[in-house]
Amino acid sequence: MRDVNQFTITEAVQKTFRAEEGTRFKFLLDSFIEHLHDYTRETQLTHDEWITILNFLYDCGKISTPERHEFILLSDVLGFSALVDMINTRGGATEGSNLGPFYLDDAPQMELGADLSGEREGAVVLVHGQVRDTLGNPQPGAIVDTWQADSSGTYPIQEQERGQDKYDLRAKFTADDQGRYYYTTVLPKPYTVPYDGPVGELLRAGDRHAWRAAHLHFIIRAEGMRPITTEVFFENTEYLDNDAVFGVRKSLITAVKPVKKSDSFDYPLERRPDAQLAYDFVLAPEG
Ligand code: BEZ
Ligand code: FE
Repeated sequence: MRDVNQFTITEAVQKTFRAEEGTRFKFLLDSFIEHLHDYTRETQLTHDEWITILNFLYDCGKISTPERHEFILLSDVLGFSALVDMINTRGGATEGSNLGPFYLDDAPQMELGADLSGEREGAVVLVHGQVRDTLGNPQPGAIVDTWQADSSGTYPIQEQERGQDKYDLRAKFTADDQGRYYYTTVLPKPYTVPYDGPVGELLRAGDRHAWRAAHLHFIIRAEGMRPITTEVFFENTEYLDNDAVFGVRKSLITAVKPVKKSDSFDYPLERRPDAQLAYDFVLAPEG
């Protein structure tokens, strides 16, 4: 390898990894090396720039904890997470979107019709819809796992020191025999992704803001179906066109409509809503 030069080094490095050719691991690794080297040659990277990048990654590692994964945030603001979501969305199924850092897999199971708002400030909104497969078949028993920020743009899990319960504003519902789900809550406000670390510095250096469009998070699961992780956004709200993590898709935006006195619902609700939003989820078969 003595006559290696800036053009032959890529293949030389790839060859040192003797993982079996044809495996997914070898393919991902070879491709990564190739793109990293191409980037370096294309930009004619200087030593200062090289160490700045590595120190930035080091800082991302230093600030990371099990609760704060700065590399996921980096992936989010670079559109890497969104791209993975897009590539993995199945035709005809609801589009995927960010998981974000505030998911808990042990949210309380609640009865359909329950109110999540816990008397919080803000209009009471009915969130309802149906879970179907890509052929239009309702999915009774589907699990609708949801979590959200409050009407000031904060997740209760972020406010535990101020006495908030981390399980507030989150629940798992089981869809009824028609695949329907329904519950009431308050609408979340936009909020910023954490910008007090290296990723925040990157945003400032690039003259970018840290705001996310207001959204409800969902994971929808049903037997024999590919689960989807997604978000629902609201028409005519801020940051739909410049969400800091590229989570918004046209198909994920819905209208919030006032509930009229004459409106009635053919299912029981713990609280009478002031407004409603409807969103149907579509799951593709597993495999
Ligand atoms: C969120 O939606 O909760 C979120 C997503 C990405 C980064 C930070 C927060
Ligand atoms: Fe969120």
